[in-house]
Amino acid sequence: MSFRGVFIAVVIATGMIVAAIMINRVRPPVDVAQPSAEFVRATGKCASCHAKETPGVVHQFEMSAHAAEGIHCLDCHRPTEGQERLDHRGFIIATQITAGNCRQCHETQYRQYLRSRHAAPAWAAVMGRDAFTDEQIAFAERYHPGAVDRPANALARLEGGAATNRGCLQCHNIGEPNRDGSIGTCTACHARHVASVELARMPATCGQCHMGPDHSQIEIYNESKHGVLFNSQKAHMNLAAEPGALTTHDMPVPTCATCHMSGLDGMKVTHDTTERLSFWLFAAVSQKRPTYLQGQAEMKEVCLKCHTTPRIERFYVEAEEVVESTNRYVVAAQDIVADLRTEGLLTPEPFDEPIEFLAFDIWHYFGRTAKHGAFMGGADFVQWHGFYELLAKTSELEHSARKLRASDASRAGR
Ligand code: HEC
Ligand code: HEC
Ligand code: HEC
Ligand code: HEC
Ligand code: HEC
Ligand code: HEC
Ligand code: HEC
Ligand code: HEC
Repeated sequence: MSFRGVFIAVVIATGMIVAAIMINRVRPPVDVAQPSAEFVRATGKCASCHAKETPGVVHQFEMSAHAAEGIHCLDCHRPTEGQERLDHRGFIIATQITAGNCRQCHETQYRQYLRSRHAAPAWAAVMGRDAFTDEQIAFAERYHPGAVDRPANALARLEGGAATNRGCLQCHNIGEPNRDGSIGTCTACHARHVASVELARMPATCGQCHMGPDHSQIEIYNESKHGVLFNSQKAHMNLAAEPGALTTHDMPVPTCATCHMSGLDGMKVTHDTTERLSFWLFAAVSQKRPTYLQGQAEMKEVCLKCHTTPRIERFYVEAEEVVESTNRYVVAAQDIVADLRTEGLLTPEPFDEPIEFLAFDIWHYFGRTAKHGAFMGGADFVQWHGFYELLAKTSELEHSARKLRASDASRAGR
């Protein structure tokens, strides 16, 4: 090529680059910020179109371990058996993704989750057994007798559909039975597209549901030494450490996940949040679980990564004393209500007389709070939201019972 030819080519090329830059500047930011060509190739057509249509989704996906491993949109959005199929831009996709879609590649985690109370028991706690198959009921009952084969919750029935759907089930749908035969969702802790372990290790993630007066775990945690330290030091921690390789160096302060699920310093990860427990603390009167010894040993193994044995043994002894003491208050309250029923002063139906609400609050709010506070380091919850209220409400209950009996006696002209 002559010098003149080269010169013209260079001028044209430079002009094109300048034009491209100028055009690019006026394009909307979503276009400019498009993922690299390599990324689009790896994830195929869905990503390139959705980078314009729903850029947030693609960006979240881009941050995930899935994108790094070459997993693409259709790996999750391909309908499995029993899932509704949508004809979408030349693809057949599923729009409702369940634990069944994740299970295709994460069977171990799914099996662990399936035997936990986060699966069928969570849904049955509100809606009862009706939506489950016989096999699903039999499976869950092996691990949690009475937790799935039960009727719908009385309070949920009384409050009605609106309260149940936007209230109870927004938390208890973690164990919703799906049409594809699977149970529940994995996204409550990992989110849809980031598939993040970092998110799952954050206390706030569990606190979406584990909150409020009847199970104040997040409030208790935030006032515990662990919570205070975590909240002030989390910026220095490696919360995204690879699962299976998590050490106390990455997380020197425990979160909910650390104690209940994580594989810390060589321990195994578990998606069965029951494994490390020794009492049914949520129950009105708390009994030891059949897995008491095993559960306590596993939880103590976590504590002992950071604490010494005498301290942890003492901690458990004192917490168990709180359980026994709370049980005594609750049994006394239940006896008062039972006596009033035998005397014919209360109807057999639940929640139709004020005194029944009082008796319910005693165990459901104050009893539980005291027990949870004792096991997770919330002194204020043991004391002022716990024992103090137990004392005050018991006195109120006794007073109401006396009044009921007195008015009955005066009605009878005695
Ligand atoms: C040519 C563009 C384009 C392609 C290719 C495309 N989509 Fe979409 N997709 C859209 C648009 C537009 C919407 C609707 C957005 C809205 O309603 O706000 C949508 C909606 C969706 C929804 C939500 C549907 C619903 O009813 O809730 C999902 C899930 C989805 N796409 C996944 C995918 C997957 C997976 C692929 C690849 C197999 C894909 N899309 C390919 C443009 C596209
Ligand atoms: C790890 C599995 C997984 C992958 C991979 C995945 N998705 Fe999804 N996607 C989900 C889940 C779960 C939902 C929530 C579905 C539901 O509501 O039941 C969802 C929902 C969506 C929605 C609807 C969002 C809304 O809020 O309306 C769109 C759009 C979508 N995905 C597009 C994509 C695209 C595009 C890709 C690839 C870049 C992709 N997904 C990759 C799991 C995945
Ligand atoms: C097509 C297979 C496939 C599907 C479907 C799939 N995953 Fe994954 N997932 C992988 C692979 C591969 C990895 C990376 C290796 C590993 O950690 O197992 C991974 C990693 C993960 C991780 C760990 C991320 C990290 O930072 O180490 C989480 C959490 C996860 N997936 C959750 C999900 C969830 C939730 C779903 C369903 C919404 C899902 N996955 C669907 C294949 C899949
Ligand atoms: C804010 C989230 C949330 C809402 C709303 C909620 N729950 Fe729960 N529920 C939980 C959590 C978390 C637990 C576990 C408590 C524990 O183990 O300490 C639980 C425990 C239970 C239990 C005891 C466990 C069992 O399997 O028997 C029952 C029963 C129950 N809930 C029923 C209901 C009903 C009925 C409603 C609505 C009237 C409801 N819940 C509303 C989060 C919620
Ligand atoms: C979407 C709501 C939701 C989220 C998020 C959630 N949980 Fe739960 N969790 C529940 C419900 C509902 C129950 C009660 C199920 C039952 O017993 O009926 C429960 C029960 C539990 C139990 C008691 C299990 C047993 O055998 O009694 C533990 C422990 C637990 N969750 C820990 C966690 C941890 C740790 C996290 C965060 C990593 C978490 N949960 C996130 C809703 C949730
Ligand atoms: C330092 C470790 C630790 C941390 C952090 C921790 N827990 Fe716990 N948790 C325990 C112990 C110990 C128990 C009682 C175990 C038993 O029954 O032996 C417990 C009990 C529970 C229960 C009661 C289950 C039942 O029987 O009703 C739930 C639910 C729970 N924790 C959820 C959480 C959530 C959510 C967080 C974070 C907001 C959290 N925990 C933080 C150690 C911890
Ligand atoms: C209650 C919250 C919660 C739910 C629900 C949940 N996960 Fe996890 N998951 C976690 C936590 C926390 C970790 C990180 C454990 C650690 O710190 O070592 C994790 C880790 C993982 C990992 C990393 C690999 C490993 O070592 O296990 C995968 C994969 C995964 N989850 C998949 C799933 C799938 C699939 C489901 C649904 C069946 C699911 N998760 C449901 C909290 C949850
Ligand atoms: C990942 C490390 C780690 C784990 C696991 C852990 N802790 Fe801690 N814990 C700490 C740190 C750090 C402090 C704050 C110590 C300080 O004041 O400097 C602390 C403080 C405490 C305190 C208050 C101070 C004291 O020693 O009296 C108690 C009680 C406690 N932890 C109990 C437990 C119990 C019980 C478990 C297991 C269920 C547990 N911890 C698990 C790191 C951990």
